[in-house]
Amino acid sequence: MEPLLNVKIPGVKKKYSGKVRDLYTVDKEHLLIVSTDRISAFDHIFPNGIPGKGIILNKISNLWFKNIKAIKNHIVEDNFSNFPKPFSDYPELLKDRAVIVRKAKRIDFECIARGYLIGTGWKDYRETGAVCGIRLPEGLKLAEKLAAPLFTPATKEDAGHDINVPVDVMRAKVGDELAYRLGEITLRIYEYARDLLDQQGIILADTKLEFGFADNEIILIDEVLTPDSSRFWDKTVYQAGTSPVSYDKQYIRDYLETTTWDKNSPPPPLPDDIVLRTQEKYREIISRIDAIFSR
Ligand SMILES: Nc1ncnc2c1ncn2[C@@H]1O[C@H](COP(=O)(O)OP(=O)(O)OP(=O)(O)O)[C@@H](O)[C@H]1O
Ligand SMILES: [Mg+2]
Repeated sequence: MEPLLNVKIPGVKKKYSGKVRDLYTVDKEHLLIVSTDRISAFDHIFPNGIPGKGIILNKISNLWFKNIKAIKNHIVEDNFSNFPKPFSDYPELLKDRAVIVRKAKRIDFECIARGYLIGTGWKDYRETGAVCGIRLPEGLKLAEKLAAPLFTPATKEDAGHDINVPVDVMRAKVGDELAYRLGEITLRIYEYARDLLDQQGIILADTKLEFGFADNEIILIDEVLTPDSSRFWDKTVYQAGTSPVSYDKQYIRDYLETTTWDKNSPPPPLPDDIVLRTQEKYREIISRIDAIFSR
């Protein structure tokens, strides 16, 4: 199977091309979002993709969207058979990998919940003893479980890396009430998914959510609890102080750390075995998430 890297729908202008998803305008209030097989790491898109990844991401998000009751979400139609023309003419591009959503005015913060100390959280802790200005006890280890999950927002940067910021920075930008509300919903969704995944032998270490406004209400947008936006660890071998076995993009990041790529120049293609292992990891996590909701 060839990876789907570029989606061109004849006669329809692309509205936006993200690192992984492409957006098309359906009408004034709706967008079509296609999940491609592109993969990014350290904010760079790789020249080769992971075949079938977009289909897996789309299905995982849709399962969570259907089951998360804490807040409304952007999904309007996730069944290709009900797509309008001209989109319905392109099953080979869109079937199982596209959704029609409410167009939202995005709130420009990534809403991150962290239950464990890893990634940029771990990096910040080692440098400052705090994560997003939240001081933590001394002596915590890599991947250690936090006493309680933290809400740690990050700014969405148009260029370059997103930046972790104290909640106060978010408050100053969006107001106290909205910042509080988003923090609360983010943690509620994290805890809901964490408990369900735990029963499948998966630790949800952290996750990133995005929210937006549609008709003056806050809705959950983008993707939800996927291996691109979350860290899923194997509970049976987890041990604080060691780098966890994961079912997500971490495999790619770890591989890249062993190469000479400088994370600034255009990235080299991923070798076949890395592509295959990543594909296996994404398949493993979708089967566990599927199991949660097919009981
Ligand atoms: N309902 C929605 N309304 C408007 N924008 C949305 C909606 N859902 C998702 N988006 C936006 O669509 C884009 C999805 O593409 P993708 O995730 O590939 O982008 P990205 O590389 O993460 O880039 P960005 O930094 O812009 O988020 C994101 O910019 C996301 O914020
Ligand atoms: Mg994104």
